Amino acid sequence: MTSLTLTLPDDWHIHLRDEEALPTTVTDIARWAGRAIVMPNLKDPVRTVADALAYRQRILAARPAESCFEPLMTLYLTDSTTVESVAEAAQSPFVQGIKLYPAGATTNSAAGVTALKALYPVIEAMEKHDLPLLIHGEVTDADCDIFDREKAFIDTALIPLTAEFPALSVVFEHITTRDAVQFVEAGSDRIAATVTAHHLLYNRNDLFVGGIKPHLFCLPVLKRDQHQLALRRAVTSGHPRFFLGTDSAPHTRQDKESSCGCAGCYTAHAALELYAEVFDEEHSLDQLERFASFNGPDFYQLPRNSGTVTLEKVSQEVPADLPLGSQRLIPLRAGERVQWTLMRSI
Ligand code: DOR
Ligand code: ZN
Repeated sequence: MTSLTLTLPDDWHIHLRDEEALPTTVTDIARWAGRAIVMPNLKDPVRTVADALAYRQRILAARPAESCFEPLMTLYLTDSTTVESVAEAAQSPFVQGIKLYPAGATTNSAAGVTALKALYPVIEAMEKHDLPLLIHGEVTDADCDIFDREKAFIDTALIPLTAEFPALSVVFEHITTRDAVQFVEAGSDRIAATVTAHHLLYNRNDLFVGGIKPHLFCLPVLKRDQHQLALRRAVTSGHPRFFLGTDSAPHTRQDKESSCGCAGCYTAHAALELYAEVFDEEHSLDQLERFASFNGPDFYQLPRNSGTVTLEKVSQEVPADLPLGSQRLIPLRAGERVQWTLMRSI
């Protein structure tokens, strides 16, 4: 297959950041996605509906002329989130979920949750109001090996949580392990997962062999190849509860190429083309539309998009860097080629 037309996709997990980053991040996502779930981990987190509405306006102001791109907003769960704020969020047509970061798990997660059980009344309210909980699923215990943190989270937090709240909608974000795939497959129809392009394309050898590649460092960290292959099988299987979430996360070149480099891969510039590479390699291009355009809106109970995008199997070179406000960021595949190109978006 050399040409592929899909219903306009959505991105169910992205970091757009704020202020001077928005012209780059919003332009890139608006090129190929109708909507995106926007992460709330700004330096000052998006905690309230009022914060989310103000942030949404800043994103809309950065949209290219004539773009119909719609940001879908999320709130940041903290130890002081209240049952009342859940009710308010559930009533807002602009807020689609609440994001759980275990405190200290990743970028801008210092205000995250320190004791999940103490928040069970808030989670109960989310279940009652049918507001999805979006989860960064890693434990933060210093003595847990970084490669085991996702599985430990499943065992110690996710299994008890989903048993206690069986009707709660849970999106297990950016899964990286076979254990997470099995957890979702065995779960109810209220449990889904997003999968990034970088976790499908790369494994930890790509991160370390031949020298450390700071631009492939993300959290959860890339795992061994058996896990990468389990993710590839899951997304190409046609299973309805795996869907596209890039976790595209811009950091400046300086912040990545540092003695203590930040976590995050920037993929919004070519994400759909990168996913197409994976599905092509797996001889499953016929499954891409479900993953990119159907499974997400069906899970979130939103309408599927009505436009289309057309991809062709024509390779393109990724620029060596991109602007990020007054600084530069290094996108995934910088200076290298991607095997597919987005030709048209209607
Ligand atoms: O790699 C990551 N980058 N993982 C996250 O969970 C957060 C993100 C960011 O905000 O940079
Ligand atoms: Zn993320």
